[in-house]
Amino acid sequence: MPTTTAPDAQFQHLMPVTARPASIFVRGQGAWLWDEAGRRYLDWLQGWAVNSLGHSPELISRALQEQSTRLLTPSPALYNLPALRLASRLCELSGFDQVFFGSTGAEANEGAIKLARKWGRVARGGAFEIVTFADAFHGRNLATMAASGKAGWDALFPPNVPGFAKARLNDLDSVLAALSPRSVAILLEPVQGEAGVRPATPEFLRALRRLCDERGLLLMFDEVQTGCARLGELFGFQHFGVEPDVMTLGKGLGGGVPISALLAKAHCSVFEHGDQGGTYAGNPLMCAVALAVLEQIGTPEFLAGVRERGAQLSQGLRELSRRHGLGEVRGAGLLWALELGRDEAAAVVERCRELGLLLNAARPHCLRFMPRLDSSEPEIAEGMRLLDQALAQGAAH
Ligand SMILES: Cc1ncc(COP(=O)(O)O)c(C=O)c1O
Repeated sequence: MPTTTAPDAQFQHLMPVTARPASIFVRGQGAWLWDEAGRRYLDWLQGWAVNSLGHSPELISRALQEQSTRLLTPSPALYNLPALRLASRLCELSGFDQVFFGSTGAEANEGAIKLARKWGRVARGGAFEIVTFADAFHGRNLATMAASGKAGWDALFPPNVPGFAKARLNDLDSVLAALSPRSVAILLEPVQGEAGVRPATPEFLRALRRLCDERGLLLMFDEVQTGCARLGELFGFQHFGVEPDVMTLGKGLGGGVPISALLAKAHCSVFEHGDQGGTYAGNPLMCAVALAVLEQIGTPEFLAGVRERGAQLSQGLRELSRRHGLGEVRGAGLLWALELGRDEAAAVVERCRELGLLLNAARPHCLRFMPRLDSSEPEIAEGMRLLDQALAQGAAH
């Protein structure tokens, strides 16, 4: 299955914003995805760490069915029950006080940036600068691209949104050097996902918490990828034991439908009428699904299962790394990376796809694993078997 960049007739009306395999995917069930030709793939992309409960879980079909016959979108200017219930449940589970719902991770992060700037205006004498990090990924609208630290992005769509100073992950001196009297917040992913699953150390996050308290800054965690049980705790900050003032969620919150959330502690929840909004903000259809997903992924048994399968996956990856002479294995819960030591991740991904396993090359030298959170023991074993085979084929060439 070759990866295509040249438009085939049936693909020509979609803007070619990314390389895609020349197959059309028509059905997903649990861990598995089928293409039009009837080929079955073990899917460890899962919508890019989105499908917490795998493809097409019954719980989501049921929530969609029930809510869609009752109320779809009344208007963001009217209250609805699923949004009220989801907001209060999220606050209860996270310790945050207020929520704004959006549809994408970028939208939640854009909201966090606006919230920090507003708080800087009302509480910090007009401070507006946010310290963000090299290699970070916060989304693809203009503000979140400027907040991100992806190499080359600053040259794509100039002029860039100002107000972001860059530091390096796990390097406190670089954070101190990036601060100025205009600084209002520090924004980071507790584990940099798109950068190749690079975790912050707990010491670094604790030091950031102290620094924010001493200097009157907001600590903001982008948990679009690490939240919603991905790291084996319901929220990534619980895994690290460091509480931010602001947190964003997306991806796994909807389990496959578009919903995101910006959560803030009361002391910095400063939005007033007109500051933030969106046509689909808190629409009941998506909120009803997220509520059902949250009730499932938030139970102690479910979280224990994520940690157990994560231990199986990381052990398997370490074994493969040893056997094939590869590099570091890092991650937590069910978000892991394997360093290959060479720029051959794209080729390994291609061989895996031919064998029936869908994987992501987060970096040219690094594979990323994001299976569904309710993966079974045999599924993880099957993924390891297929990866082993792909790595062995590479060595044979
Ligand atoms: C940490 C993080 N933040 C933000 C985003 C952007 O989310 P979305 O693509 O839903 O806008 C992503 C997506 O990969 C992400 O991993």
